[in-house]
Amino acid sequence: MGDPTHIIELIDRILEETEDQPELQQKIFDLRDALLAAQQSAQQYNLKIKTLEETIRQLKSPAHRIGTVLGPGNDDLVRLNVGGTEYQAAVSPEILENGPLQVGDQVAVNEGFVAIIKLPRPQQGPIARVVTRLKDGHWMVNGGTGNTEFMVQACDDLKEENFREGDEIILDPTQRVILKALPKREQKLVVEDEFVTVTWEQVGGQEDVIKEVRKVIEYPILHQEILDKMEYRMPKGFLFYGPPGCGKTLIGKAILSDIVNKLKEQSHDLKDLEGRFIHVKGPEILNMWLGESERKVREIFKKARDYREKGQLPFIFIDEAESVLGTRQALRVNNISNTLVPMFCAEMDGIQSVRDMVVILATNRPDLIDPAILRPGRIDRKIKVSRPDRGDCEDILKVYLKKDLPIEGESLDALIGPFLDTLFGTAPEQEALLLTLRNGEFKKLYWKDFISGAILESIVLRAKERAIERAIAGEPLMIKVDDLLKSLEHEFVENNVLPADSNMEDWLQLLDFDPKNVVRVRRPRDSDQAAHQTMSRSII
Ligand SMILES: Nc1ncnc2c1ncn2[C@@H]1O[C@H](COP(=O)(O)OP(=O)(O)OP(=O)(O)O)[C@@H](O)[C@H]1O
Ligand SMILES: [Mg+2]
Repeated sequence: MGDPTHIIELIDRILEETEDQPELQQKIFDLRDALLAAQQSAQQYNLKIKTLEETIRQLKSPAHRIGTVLGPGNDDLVRLNVGGTEYQAAVSPEILENGPLQVGDQVAVNEGFVAIIKLPRPQQGPIARVVTRLKDGHWMVNGGTGNTEFMVQACDDLKEENFREGDEIILDPTQRVILKALPKREQKLVVEDEFVTVTWEQVGGQEDVIKEVRKVIEYPILHQEILDKMEYRMPKGFLFYGPPGCGKTLIGKAILSDIVNKLKEQSHDLKDLEGRFIHVKGPEILNMWLGESERKVREIFKKARDYREKGQLPFIFIDEAESVLGTRQALRVNNISNTLVPMFCAEMDGIQSVRDMVVILATNRPDLIDPAILRPGRIDRKIKVSRPDRGDCEDILKVYLKKDLPIEGESLDALIGPFLDTLFGTAPEQEALLLTLRNGEFKKLYWKDFISGAILESIVLRAKERAIERAIAGEPLMIKVDDLLKSLEHEFVENNVLPADSNMEDWLQLLDFDPKNVVRVRRPRDSDQAAHQTMSRSII
């Protein structure tokens, strides 16, 4: 009887019966409307009460811990790891309705550690790397954050998976089960060993270096008997050091090419001999996972030995060697000992002679190489590849400006001469840095103090671009003196060839200045007034 719909029906019936009493009907209509409105708000209140009840229920219920299933336990129990502790836990029958729990499944447990809800697998978690396979779907992995290896098992879906050493995987939050394999990251090319022949004609200047390099690397390989008769202890490894872009890599490739050609000429048996230039980028090795850098170094030496066994001539060339074989200062790490240095030394000690493989380290900062590396019997020959002097620059330019190129004027010398005059000039325009030394002296550095083969190559390239542009616009095709001069200026004024303040210390070392003896570095474009002030102060 209390049903509001029934009351409305009753009212409707009364309305029918009182059609002849309009005044009464009006009141009954009002009553009907009021009743409908009351019914509507009662419904809204009901809804609100339900929401509140649900909120109270949620507030009253505790959070559930989440555990990882490690496998079956005794009877109908499962082995669970919850927050690092293992439990043998009962499973709510509701979960089991959809089949038994699998290794790696995530479950919520109640206060009594009963698994009450099965949860979806997490899509993120700690990442580790596979080290090696153990028995029965178990694996040894490396956690990456420290040099720690531990054992895990694959979740049931991945039991048959054949992970490879170094594969990245996601572990469950308790780090006991492999939940997922991560897609392979694109590996940076740490080691290149495509070898393109470089002839001595491609190297400009650097005659003393070339002579020295031939003596120490070529003689032991090509004139084995003579050196053996003299019981001459052959060097095994070499350090090429000097400023960037001055030809260390280029000379390394040229000497290998030269030796290969000469060996082929020496003996018909060697006519198929190939050179192998295993070019290693130091910093990229260091950026690898802990443990993996060491593996990479071993791999590099193994690769060289394999080439040797196949009758090829391998060179290992490690660029920016101070980054991997440096002292602690160079590595800028305090709490990790550099395990690469002893490893590298052991590999070097295992090499019988330079005829097995030639190891060359290249660096801009020889002072940062760990002294253990430079001990006799390891990398015991140091060769300085300096910045080119005027004669070298001329030779380098002639490498890139071949005789038959269309040029302005009578001869190549007429083209190059004015360029070199400007490059080696000591006018204010060519001033690059002003150093104040500890003993009060001043030292001016000019463009010539920063020149390199790489910069010269780039200047010629730019000059050619200018000539090409003019030719396309309809003028005769030729490189003019002005093209070289403009490109030179562009290189030094706009192209940041000169050192930035942030790496001034490195630069000073490259310029053979001990940073400790330099108290101030100033650019000539800093205000002249400031310059006068500091100078007079220093003199006083
Ligand atoms: N003496 C040179 N003759 C001709 N080209 C040169 C010379 N020196 C440098 N170059 C050019 O500059 C490029 C870079 O030189 P290279 O890589 O040999 O320098 P690097 O001393 O190894 O420098 P980095 O310390 O930066 O590795 C070379 O590939 C070459 O094109
Ligand atoms: Mg190089």
